[in-house]
Amino acid sequence: MRIILLGPPGAGKGTQAINLAQRLKLVHISTGDILRQNVSNGTDLGKQAKGYMDSGALVPDDLVTQMLERQINQPDTEKGFILDGYPRNISQAKALDKILKQKNIKIGLVVYLDTSESVIIQRLTGRLVCKFCGANFHIKNMPPKIDMICDKCGGELYQRTDDKEETIKTRLEVYKKEASSLIQYYEAGHQLRRISADEDADPVLNKIVQLAQSI
Ligand code: AP5
Repeated sequence: MRIILLGPPGAGKGTQAINLAQRLKLVHISTGDILRQNVSNGTDLGKQAKGYMDSGALVPDDLVTQMLERQINQPDTEKGFILDGYPRNISQAKALDKILKQKNIKIGLVVYLDTSESVIIQRLTGRLVCKFCGANFHIKNMPPKIDMICDKCGGELYQRTDDKEETIKTRLEVYKKEASSLIQYYEAGHQLRRISADEDADPVLNKIVQLAQSI
């Protein structure tokens, strides 16, 4: 099964994708995580992407699409995958269709995580991420058991550099500019399902699992 999670920054795409991947035994592909890994490893891709990411802009389509294609071509994706953070615009959606067509596979489900702006701001300004395993926490909603330490691997938690209020605003503007045409694209293909993602993480996960099991 191949699933896309769409939604604004802070909708919970990463949180849901990690849990969904475990539940359904699928591979989680997060373009944001792969880019951040490249930035912290100082790769050429990371050097090219850093400025865009720090300002809240999208990294150029060709760089991200090449990176995504490499991930989709890994043998562990054969049973299926969950895309988190890709596609971000129509051009990426079309590039994805092309990659999948070459492999003779299709996306089965696109879930749009509908989230209100006040919830987004509250989630992003309180997000904490593990430096080592990338697990997500939240100062209030999902606090770690020990202050600034990851429950899962004991790694140190940090605040993402793009989770500053000013950068969040830019990320939301970028998202709004591209979102409606992307949603229409998948509505036209009849793969899109909308769910409210303002609720707690577990009920949201259960709704996505139900949708995945119904296709
Ligand atoms: P990316 O990492 O993809 O960021 P984003 O889309 O802005 O999404 P976020 O990771 O901020 O939010 P999320 O929806 O995953 O929420 P999360 O689960 O973490 O991209 C970062 C940058 O990389 C982009 O700005 C761009 O520069 C570049 N990039 C990435 N992909 C690209 C592409 N395809 N093309 C071009 N550029 C690209 O949750 C947020 C917080 O809320 C957490 O603290 C979590 O614990 C909490 N939370 C989540 N769900 C709930 C819930 N239901 N209840 C309570 N708390 C919750």
